[in-house]
Amino acid sequence: MSNKKILVLPGDGIGNEVMSEVLHIMDWMAKNKTLSFDVSERLVGGTAYDKEGDSISDSTMQEALDCDAILFGAVGGSKWDGVDRNKRPEAALLRLRKELDLFANLRPAVVFDALADSSSLKLDIVKGLDILTVRELTSGVYFGQPRGVSKIDENEEKAIDTQSYTTSEIDRISRVAFDLAKLRNNKVTSVEKSNVMETGMFWKKVVTKIHKDEFSSVELNHMLADNCAMQLVRNPKQFDVILTDNLFGDLLSDVSAMLTGSLGMLPSASLGSISKTGTRAAMYEPVHGSAPDIAGKGLANPLAMIMSFAMMLKYSFNMIEDSALIEKAVQNVLSGGFRTADIKQDGKTILSTSQMGQKVIEELSKLDGK
Ligand code: IPM
Ligand code: MG
Repeated sequence: MSNKKILVLPGDGIGNEVMSEVLHIMDWMAKNKTLSFDVSERLVGGTAYDKEGDSISDSTMQEALDCDAILFGAVGGSKWDGVDRNKRPEAALLRLRKELDLFANLRPAVVFDALADSSSLKLDIVKGLDILTVRELTSGVYFGQPRGVSKIDENEEKAIDTQSYTTSEIDRISRVAFDLAKLRNNKVTSVEKSNVMETGMFWKKVVTKIHKDEFSSVELNHMLADNCAMQLVRNPKQFDVILTDNLFGDLLSDVSAMLTGSLGMLPSASLGSISKTGTRAAMYEPVHGSAPDIAGKGLANPLAMIMSFAMMLKYSFNMIEDSALIEKAVQNVLSGGFRTADIKQDGKTILSTSQMGQKVIEELSKLDGK
């Protein structure tokens, strides 16, 4: 079997530091698990804009289309605030999502026992929390047409964004959510604003039909997006899988992420459809951003990036055991009392980014009996 082709896009800010810890883990895997990857690394985001004139070049885009999976760090920073919207760092992310058709964004929010008291919510509300937001990622208001700013008269302008969804777009993201729910607690909450939006009513109707036709064994509830935001901070454990559109998913996944008290711990996967030959485009990235204020100081938490790599092993390569091994190593490092600055607690040992990466590798070796 040929090696898997991985495209590594560290991006801006702390993206580089956290990615280099994953590269060390890949080296460890190559040595100890005879799992090797063909890795190529390219620029993306503001760094690519500065050096290549665009936040993602056409040749990098071509590599993205040709590889088996992408590992993405983070992009953005106030340095590029003045850049045109279509060349801004974030535009690279949107282009990758759209051109690879990465319509299914999986954002797990899991509270690790060792970190349960870092949440801003009370311990009993979040302890043991494990929810998964399934966010539609290639349609809705992020991409709907028409959009733009036009002139009404001398003194007045008008800006338009369009929220739109088709039946098949809702069908395919719903199937992903229902399929994943079956592997978890078998419960989907579909979230929209059917009380005010046409797309909300339509979303609810299409999800209801798919559920009835194909997934009636899964429990389905519908919830308005504002209520969902409230319920997430009131009683988050009522949720298992949250199925929602692009914009609501952006907002609600940030809320659920922060319930865990540690944005630096959360991975994500963005997946395309499964082709006839069984392959699927996929990109894995931490939920945290580029954090330019702490970049280059060794303060960043590499665990979300490392867990994104674990998600890649699981969802792209079906390497379930190796993926679980990495997750277990991360858990052991945390329960052993090691922290990065963002999750520091009294009495625990604070490590730099690279020390944390090294600890995970030590733990991998222990678990692997080496
Ligand atoms: C996210 C981010 C992006 C989004 C930005 C950086 C374009 O907030 O992945 O949640 O809005 O989708
Ligand atoms: Mg967001």
